[in-house]
Parts: sequence; C-alpha cells; structure tokens
Amino acid sequence: MKFFVDTADVAEIRSLVETGFIDGVTTNPSLIAQSGRRIEEAIAEICSLVSGPVSAEVTATDLNGMLKEGRYLAKIASNVVVKVPLTPEGLKACRALTQEGTLVNVTLCFSAAQAILAAKAGASFISPFIGRLDDVGETGMDLIHQIIQIYSNYPDFHTQVLAASIRSPLHVIEAARMGADVATIPPKILHQLYKHPLTDKGLLDFLDDWQKTGQQIIAI
Ligand code: G3P
Repeated sequence: MKFFVDTADVAEIRSLVETGFIDGVTTNPSLIAQSGRRIEEAIAEICSLVSGPVSAEVTATDLNGMLKEGRYLAKIASNVVVKVPLTPEGLKACRALTQEGTLVNVTLCFSAAQAILAAKAGASFISPFIGRLDDVGETGMDLIHQIIQIYSNYPDFHTQVLAASIRSPLHVIEAARMGADVATIPPKILHQLYKHPLTDKGLLDFLDDWQKTGQQIIAI
C-alpha cells in the first residue's frame, strides 16, 4: 500500500519525507489556501521534495478551463498528477488529459457509480472520500470495499483506488485490509500510526530495567 500525505505544508512534507514512508502527496484548493502560497510555487517545491505523484487540483469548472489549468499544472514538474472533480466536465477533462499522457486523479467521489465512470474515463487514481461520507451518516469504508470489488472484475480498468478524507488510523487499517492501492493521510494521522500506549510503556520498562544493570552497549 502506498502512503501519500494530504497536505500542502512544505515544512511538514520535508520532515515526513525523512521517515521514508511517503510515496506521494495530494493537495486540494483548501489545503493550498491553508498554506498561504501560490499554487505553482507550492507544487513546484513539493515536487522537488517528493519523487512520487503530487496531485494538484484544477479550480475551473468548465471543460476548457480545466484543460487549460490542467496542462499548466502538469508543466510544473514531471510528477504532477492533475486532480479534477467528479463532474461530467471533469470526466471529459480526465479523458482528454489522460490521452495526452498526463496522470489524472478524479476527486470528490462519493459513490461506486461515480468510480466506474472515472475508470472508464481513464483516471489514474480515484479518490473516494471516506471521512466526509461518515460525516453524513454513511459508512465511507463500504464505498472503498465496493470500488475495489468492482474494479477487480475488470482487468482493463487501470485506476488505482486512493482512499481519501482519512480521519483516523482505523481508516488506514481498514483501507489496507480491503486492498486500497493508496491512502492519502493528513500529517496528524500519519504521526498517530506510530503510537500505541503499550509501546511507550514497554520501552520505559525496558530502559528502566536496563539502567539498573549498570551496563552500556559499547559498539565496536
Ligand atoms: O484531499 C482530499 C481529502 O483527503 C480531503 O479530506 O478531511 O477535508 O474531508 P477532508
């Protein structure tokens, strides 16, 4: 399973890259807004830090606007993935950009029917939003399961399932159990993945016992 980090915070990305766990980055207009930077500048810097896919989202809603913005964003770096919304125009843009050789991430997916359309439009990634479905009383993980099941019926679908809107380590675990190709994870949740109170307690106990021996490991 690949881990992408869902942020446009360059300092955060830089420190997470050092963990060796980051395979890519996803951004969206809200995350770029939070960064307070111009999109071109933020995406260029992120692409210089991460060699894997970096999603940059268009903000036009008409086909020509999306194509223009998508082509512009794709020129920033060779690892830019253009993100388009799951609308009729977005799927047309997906098909055209894919035919031009650009990788496309279709975002704001909330149903299996939408995911089928994205695969048929040639998307490289589909982003079903787990947390936002949970927020409205649905079960986001069920959607991930349905999409993986449907895609596995059709070997000519090459769209990777990118579990998005992840709000907890449990979402990551469940997405992995189901076989999602990628999870895009906010930095806070990535940090939580390391944590277990028994790990902290166990380490304290080991070090406490070790100190009592008076020994030191002299590495030679
Ligand atoms: O990047 C898209 C997605 O991960 C957004 O997450 O938490 O704003 O629903 P969230």
